[in-house]
Amino acid sequence: MSFIGKTGRLIGLTALRQLVSDSMAIDMGSASTLIAVRGRGVVVDEPSVVAVNKVNGEVIAVGIEAHKMQGREARDVTVIAPLVDGVVADFERTKTMLDHFVRKARSGLSHFSRRAIMSVISEVTQVEQRALLAAAEEARITRVYMIEEGQGAAIGAGVPVHDEHAAAVVDIGAGTTNVAAIISGSIIASRAERIGSSDIDLAIMDRLRRHRGLTIGVQTAERLKLELSSAIEPEEPNKKINVRGRDVQTGSPGAVDITAAEVYTITLPIIRRIAEEVRSMLTELAPEVAGDIYERGLILTGGGALLEGLPQYLQRELDLVVRVADDPRFAIVRGLAQLYEEPLLLRRVSRTEAHPLMDTEATAFET
Ligand SMILES: Nc1ncnc2c1ncn2[C@@H]1O[C@H](COP(=O)(O)OP(=O)(O)OP(=O)(O)O)[C@@H](O)[C@H]1O
Ligand SMILES: [Mg+2]
Repeated sequence: MSFIGKTGRLIGLTALRQLVSDSMAIDMGSASTLIAVRGRGVVVDEPSVVAVNKVNGEVIAVGIEAHKMQGREARDVTVIAPLVDGVVADFERTKTMLDHFVRKARSGLSHFSRRAIMSVISEVTQVEQRALLAAAEEARITRVYMIEEGQGAAIGAGVPVHDEHAAAVVDIGAGTTNVAAIISGSIIASRAERIGSSDIDLAIMDRLRRHRGLTIGVQTAERLKLELSSAIEPEEPNKKINVRGRDVQTGSPGAVDITAAEVYTITLPIIRRIAEEVRSMLTELAPEVAGDIYERGLILTGGGALLEGLPQYLQRELDLVVRVADDPRFAIVRGLAQLYEEPLLLRRVSRTEAHPLMDTEATAFET
């Protein structure tokens, strides 16, 4: 008999219920991990990074704590992102990270979770999917439903699940752009490309190193993007920020001024590539579907959708009405959580057959 079965006999079902936390929705992205718990909303919103002791390999901090060390690590410490471009790049650290966040999401006495809905990018491979399932098992989740990002994003952005007309959603994350056409909660077509908002950060770093002789850290580059970057001609092209880093030639600390106009020229090629991806996906759609989307336009989700001027840029380039979902960073996790209210749809669209990961007696008290 399993641990849960034995414990159930000893302490009774009511007490046992307290050991098991409720259903979770997990959106583990390359930049941040979000967890919502049914009835409690979003309870975890932390950077997807871990700090590791280089000498013995031990994980010393996860999430916000590890992020604080990033770029300013002590000699023996390295901060790594276990997920790259939306998929598992470092399996062991992904397991440790998910376990840590899931523990945080559980309340009080609970040690197990009945079930979790996790998002995956649309072109996830079997190997990548198995890595996520194994990580969920390590975090003591009994059942996992894997849902494509596009479905979660559409529901979270308010597209009705019983809609007979098609809708198109573009999720721009840190490492990936996921484009999906949806009808009645199901995917008609979808595509994931490994380009996202953090490519703007990398382009800024590259440009400053090569043209201005200054090496800057990832966090400085992201801050510069948040403050100055725009997908349309900046209103104040001469607005500038003094950025600090290390002089390429001398290796000493240094600083340069960078203007909004310069950041705009760095941003544009990345945004153009994203627009091309969206356009090319849209051209593959059947005429009726294309007609619905022409009428209704595109919905943007993900943190990348918050870039200044992006909806206007895409609207102009694609000749479609573009709107940004409310709180776009949370759209996917919100949509995943809403799927608990649609059990038939959840079963129909899950990529995994309600994958039982542990002893299924824990599901005896599913409501
Ligand atoms: N106001 C903003 N303006 C521009 N970019 C922003 C803004 N807010 C967040 N971002 C960017 O959005 C990205 C994070 O988005 P999100 O949380 O959706 O990514 P993710 O889900 O972790 O990544 P992925 O889905 O690619 O794995 C970061 O690159 C961040 O810099
Ligand atoms: Mg994401």
